[in-house]
Amino acid sequence: MKSPVTSRSAPPLSVRGLTKSFGSTRAVRDVSFDVRSGEVHALLGHNGSGKSTLVKMISGLVRPDSGGFNVGSGADEVLRIGVVHQDLALCADATVLENCCMGDAVARRGPFVDWDRERRTLLPILDSLAAHFGPSTMVRDLSPANQAVVAIARALKRGATGAPLDLLILDEATARLRGTDADMVLATARRVAAQGGGVLLVTHHMSEVLSAADRATVLASGAVVDTVEVSSTDEEQLLRMVSGRDVTALRRTPPPPKATDQAPLLVLDRVTGEQVHDLSLEIRAGEILGVTGATGAGFEELPYLITRPDRCHDGTIHLGGVLLRGRTYSETRSRGVGVVPADRLINGVYVAASVRENLSPVVRRHNRVLGLVANPKERSWARRTASAFQVRTAGPDAPIGSLSGGNQQKVLLARVLEDRPKVLILHEPTQGVDEPTRRALIEIVRGAARAGTAVLYVSCDVDEVAGAADRVLVLRDGRCVHESPGGLDRADAIYAASYLTGTTTP
Ligand SMILES: Nc1ncnc2c1ncn2[C@@H]1O[C@H](COP(=O)(O)OP(=O)(O)OP(=O)(O)O)[C@@H](O)[C@H]1O
Ligand SMILES: [Mg+2]
Repeated sequence: MKSPVTSRSAPPLSVRGLTKSFGSTRAVRDVSFDVRSGEVHALLGHNGSGKSTLVKMISGLVRPDSGGFNVGSGADEVLRIGVVHQDLALCADATVLENCCMGDAVARRGPFVDWDRERRTLLPILDSLAAHFGPSTMVRDLSPANQAVVAIARALKRGATGAPLDLLILDEATARLRGTDADMVLATARRVAAQGGGVLLVTHHMSEVLSAADRATVLASGAVVDTVEVSSTDEEQLLRMVSGRDVTALRRTPPPPKATDQAPLLVLDRVTGEQVHDLSLEIRAGEILGVTGATGAGFEELPYLITRPDRCHDGTIHLGGVLLRGRTYSETRSRGVGVVPADRLINGVYVAASVRENLSPVVRRHNRVLGLVANPKERSWARRTASAFQVRTAGPDAPIGSLSGGNQQKVLLARVLEDRPKVLILHEPTQGVDEPTRRALIEIVRGAARAGTAVLYVSCDVDEVAGAADRVLVLRDGRCVHESPGGLDRADAIYAASYLTGTTTP
């Protein structure tokens, strides 16, 4: 897969002594490394280790305190950097084409934007990414996975009109993608490298590093641990560098717990929505049901149908024997359904509020004194919860926007889990969470199930679903095509059912 290239005079990226603090948080400390021409260079590190801050400095969004960097080979050249930021930075109320033109020098005809030409530039890029949508689609109407594809298309468009990209930076661009979609992004990265550019690939997935990267730089607490050749390392060694400890204990996946013999708690009977067709399923108290498939297979709609049953075109949903109706999420929540949504920034955390306030819908219930919120109690409770979920933060009053992406995800999980819901719906719950913490969070979900919660675990990550769930359903074209017990040893069969047509075994 990795191919030789013609090398350029200077490396596409050379970073020397970059340093950045936010108040007392030393986010990036004296970081130096190069991305060579023709190289895919992975950037690894635990949540909050400084990866995105480094990316923001290189792309000009954050000013370094000291140190510097060089992009491209000379001062006379136009810099061609394409960046996919972790939060994608898309405008939901604009089209795919408008998003891909934002912040770039656009083609003009007189005083007007030459939209036809921009469209002609974009179309082959969308084709190369196997996009299932066109330039006129509104970004708001796309799934989180497809929104990631738009952000990648925008980054590639920077190199489309002239010379190829000097540098492509992907900050967890594959976090929302799995299987063939993630492979396609990695192939794109290899293509940019083969044209003589460099790629900085930020990811938590060791398999992506091993399959697509030439070298890897590992950060811990803002500083470089080491830069290694990928061909002379393995997953275990990389994980050890990321977590700073021996990970053999983490690798052991205990067998999933057995489901109990009680009556099912959540029952879907012949449910049909926009993408889901005629789907029936049952989850018992104490059981974790995984649902997966290829991107666009319809399983992504399931969490929305359960939290907003009025969106079902047909079929019924019962919770504890009672018909679930509800036109708002808060109605469904009051019936005991907790949800961790896939689109954290839109439906998850309150970006303008603090860590404590984000935990607060839960905290308030536990910490009321005569109906009023006990503030000091709430603060110490928030601190304890943040520590139990290994949230790295300056303190409970830190604004949630100052937390790294993975740490925001942990706050969201903490809030929903501590509410002790009867039914827990998890939609891509570990996106952007580093590997050691991901395993810890799955253990916490298992604990919730052991305490009697029925869990629906929806993710495009086959390994994760297989490892976490007692039972797994695979959807294709909105219908269930495969059912399997959970367990990592079943992952290959589940993967085949998700991605290979003709492998259906009901
Ligand atoms: N604007 C900001 N204000 C205050 N602190 C910040 C800000 N941006 C980042 N930080 C802090 O800097 C540190 C590094 O954060 P960064 O987002 O770079 O981590 P990361 O390695 O990308 O993590 P993740 O894997 O979770 O995305 C964290 O402690 C974070 O809370
Ligand atoms: Mg980040």
